[in-house]
Amino acid sequence: MTEVAKLEQQLLEFEQAASKSLAEAKTQGEIESSRQEFLGQKGILTNILRSLPQLSKEDRPRLGQFANTVKQKIELLYLERKKTLDGQELEEKLKTEKIDITLPGRGKKLGHLHPLTQILTEIENIFLTMGFTPVEGPEVETEYYNFDALNFPPDHPSRDEQDTFYTNLGSNIVLRCHTSSVQARAMEKFKPPLRVTCAGRVYRNEEINARKYPVFHQVEGLLIDRNVGFGQLKGTLNEFIRLLFGKPLKTRFRPDFFPFTEPSAELDSECPFCDGAGCRTCGNKGWLELLGCGMVDPNVLKAVNIDPEEWNGFAFGMGVERLAMLKYGITDIRHFYNNDMRFLEQF
Ligand code: DAH
Repeated sequence: MTEVAKLEQQLLEFEQAASKSLAEAKTQGEIESSRQEFLGQKGILTNILRSLPQLSKEDRPRLGQFANTVKQKIELLYLERKKTLDGQELEEKLKTEKIDITLPGRGKKLGHLHPLTQILTEIENIFLTMGFTPVEGPEVETEYYNFDALNFPPDHPSRDEQDTFYTNLGSNIVLRCHTSSVQARAMEKFKPPLRVTCAGRVYRNEEINARKYPVFHQVEGLLIDRNVGFGQLKGTLNEFIRLLFGKPLKTRFRPDFFPFTEPSAELDSECPFCDGAGCRTCGNKGWLELLGCGMVDPNVLKAVNIDPEEWNGFAFGMGVERLAMLKYGITDIRHFYNNDMRFLEQF
């Protein structure tokens, strides 16, 4: 046998051995080492190619070509084997790693407005439909706007520190104890006729319990025009109550006293939950006490240089927490301030 024939024989055996080895390789690691063994720098093929220079001029290209074909075949075998293994591995993965597409998704939690903000906006919007413009005023207020301009006498008990928070910003700077403080500000800014509401936080020096909290919210309303009568006040508030509770309700006025209105009244509505029969919400009375109101006292108009001979009007003020508690059957005012998601998520 010639040297060339011997080498060719070796190459054929080599090809068979490589193909067998690759076919038996079961993991990526095994085919990789099989490739190294046959095609790597220290592999058998490299050895054969190294002996080429010893061959005659005629034999050299023939054997070189032959060796290259063998090399390419093995490369191809290697790639195919690797592809098959990749496929098997993927299949295996798909079988074992199941994705349950029927599982409910992890939804994002959406926030929403605080229930007090919601009802406050609702109240303002109801009055907006009747032409009342929402305005704002400061929570840190002068005694003048909080009391004097509203016809509170200098010795009125509300001015007492037991009721009103005084600040260290000056002896006459308080935290407003009602949104009525915005009345005079509104009348100074907008000349009559005018219709405004003012919603916001108010402060009172109270012990915390189920019905009282030192900060709460009020909505104030003020209308100034010519020849305003008590009937217009009643019509406006009846419409408000109808829209707030979603049905027309009987109302009644009980005489009351406020320094800034004359006459003054408390407005009650028939209880919307028992239609006046008596239930837990209305304390078996059949009526709900909703708000304070009255005809603007001439002294309040005089304080802002509006002629009470020409102009008059009405005003009303309501506690937002109280209305929200009635509307939603909430029994403890502290729920509004505890930031408990179980409570807040219900709105
Ligand atoms: N300011 C009163 C309070 O805080 C509520 C009120 C009563 C407002 C009568 C008014 C009114 O405008 O006319 O209790």
